[in-house]
Amino acid sequence: MKILVTGGAGFIGSHVVRRLVMTYPEYHIYNLDALTYAGNLENLTDIDQAPNYTFLKADITDASHIQTLFETYRFDKVVHLAAESHVDRSIKDPLAFVRTNVIGTMNLLNACTSIWKEDTENNLFYHISTDEVYGSLGADGLFTEETSYSPNSPYAASKASSDHFVRAYGETYNFPFIISNCSNNYGPNHFPEKLIPLFINNILEMKPLPVYGDGNYTRDWLYVLDHAIAIDTILHKGKVGETYNIGGFNEWKNIDLVHLLCDMMDDTLSRKRGTSASLITYVKDRPGHDKRYAIDASKINKELGWKPSVTFEEGLKATIDWYLNNKTWLEQVTSGDYQDYYTKMYQS
Ligand code: NAD
Ligand code: DAU
Repeated sequence: MKILVTGGAGFIGSHVVRRLVMTYPEYHIYNLDALTYAGNLENLTDIDQAPNYTFLKADITDASHIQTLFETYRFDKVVHLAAESHVDRSIKDPLAFVRTNVIGTMNLLNACTSIWKEDTENNLFYHISTDEVYGSLGADGLFTEETSYSPNSPYAASKASSDHFVRAYGETYNFPFIISNCSNNYGPNHFPEKLIPLFINNILEMKPLPVYGDGNYTRDWLYVLDHAIAIDTILHKGKVGETYNIGGFNEWKNIDLVHLLCDMMDDTLSRKRGTSASLITYVKDRPGHDKRYAIDASKINKELGWKPSVTFEEGLKATIDWYLNNKTWLEQVTSGDYQDYYTKMYQS
């Protein structure tokens, strides 16, 4: 079994690659990644010498390179995570999101259809998507697999578009696909542009913690290793043509989460309680900011037996400890271009 994981050097992808390489020595796992600012092979140094692992540097927007790789390696299954993933960047440069998330996905779909046409039974295109495609919830309710798409950011629109193309290939070409839509992940190796790792880094550096708007936006948080387990479960037990929602049953208002994180960081760093919270700074809101996300993950629970295994307090503690024990990783990813990004994003 040759499994291609795209975006395997990124945050979630690296946890998926590690899990598949270590759990299934009988499979060969190919990690295809362009190594953008978000891709980092340091995330995989513990498994990169494994005999069942190969890294392929490639850009999914390069159709002919992707086609050549598929003809050379003839992958049996694809787990597609490669994407531009940050909402704030999508507001500044939407076209980059169309290129990678829409056209890049199309290139993979076309490469798959070209080599899988005789045998779809053992093949699968597993597309990793997000709950952001559903838009925003009010105070009540949950996103189910039947919720209609209503994306509000260029990032969400590009992911929704790619989901539609995957589904359309299923209908039109009898293409074997599964889609899963997951809520906000957190954990080790998370690039410090997203809320939790950015705030951990800023607390360490005693820099302001920029809370958008009034801070009363709600997200449903899932520990990244639980997402990797869910992906493994769907890959092996999911039904072709189906969609599965994945979530943490774990809703937090941003400001409450930030206070919890501040207290936990103060305790871990032996600082006086209130030290980190004093860094909280309310800043201009994100345009089109979705009020609330919350996932109904009962389908994957009932049909495939998956549920989160880590509580939020356990996951957050493990995450904080990981960043404290991996300061070199953090220093490397926050040097160079990151400083320009931070200035443009937070000082304009
Ligand atoms: P990430 O930004 O950390 O990693 C993305 C990876 O894709 C990087 O390794 C990057 O180098 C690679 N990549 C980007 N453009 C590429 C291209 N053109 N060709 C090849 N590789 C390219 O992202 P993440 O947070 O790990 O998210 C992974 C996937 O999961 C994405 O599809 C995202 O939409 C989805 N998702 C993320 C979350 C979350 O909370 N982070 C939640 C639900 C779904
Ligand atoms: O819901 C799944 C999505 O979760 C994924 O598809 C995306 O790839 C991932 O980035 C994430 O999107 P969010 O926009 O929800 O995550 P982010 O960490 O950027 O923001 C979380 C919340 O915190 C959101 O309400 C915005 C707010 N925020 C974020 C940043 C970076 C702040 O208040 N200040 C900040 O500096």
